[in-house]
Amino acid sequence: MNTQGMIGVGYRRKMTNALLDGSDIHPEFVELAPENWIDVGGTWKQRLNRVADKYPILCHGLSLSIGSPDPLDMDFIKKLKAFLDEYQVPLYSEHLSYSKCDNAHLYDLLPIPFRQDAVDHIVERIKIVQDVLERPLVLENVSYYTPVAAEMTEIEFINAIVKESGCQLLLDVNNVYVNSFNHSYDAHEFIDSLPLESVGYMHMAGHRKIRPDLIIDTHGSEIIDPVYDLFDYTVARTNPVPVLLERDFNIPEMAELDRELSRLKAISKSHWHKETVDHGTA
Ligand SMILES: [Fe+2]
Repeated sequence: MNTQGMIGVGYRRKMTNALLDGSDIHPEFVELAPENWIDVGGTWKQRLNRVADKYPILCHGLSLSIGSPDPLDMDFIKKLKAFLDEYQVPLYSEHLSYSKCDNAHLYDLLPIPFRQDAVDHIVERIKIVQDVLERPLVLENVSYYTPVAAEMTEIEFINAIVKESGCQLLLDVNNVYVNSFNHSYDAHEFIDSLPLESVGYMHMAGHRKIRPDLIIDTHGSEIIDPVYDLFDYTVARTNPVPVLLERDFNIPEMAELDRELSRLKAISKSHWHKETVDHGTA
């Protein structure tokens, strides 16, 4: 299923009727967290099937914990593979971070130390995951608030992971903006230094400035103009990929989300010269 250049939205259960009805919101795909759906049956499984009949599904995981010192959870990865196959999911993404340590789920995306020993560890794990899933793993640059025991820069770390593993990059443009603000670097230079030919997916989201010198990546507000500008700059330098509007909290009326989708679509089309693809979603 070709989702290149499409604009999508994160699927929340409360959106189900609006997505099936298709009058107030018009994404070209939906993204969901497989962990929230793998063991679901009954009515919600039927609803998910109806959504999947109408929209391509992309998956964005929460619990792979690729950077963890703990062993990979192979039982989970095999279940995940079955789910991705069942819904013909062409793209599975995760976070370049970790969320498990000493067998404890920490329910947060913790920053991996930017070090060569971490690169070696993660590259080996990426290859194992890709072999089982029979799909490329697409890893996201995460927001972080302090580097931990760093021996290299964030950009060197990301480049080493992508080059040595052959994985793809989920470029979260808002995360670049947030990190560049919090860590005082130039967001455009950062984008230019990424392995842009390996970008397979993009995220866009809102954030919250809580102090003059600190932004928190909340996914609870609308996207601000400087992040749209950075998206425009980025899209001009990448191949067409799917783009997701992330909104996890303070979810507004569907019409408001749809306006954000339309703005993302207009920017991406201006560079990717792509006619709107009609998948019967309207
Ligand atoms: Fe993201």
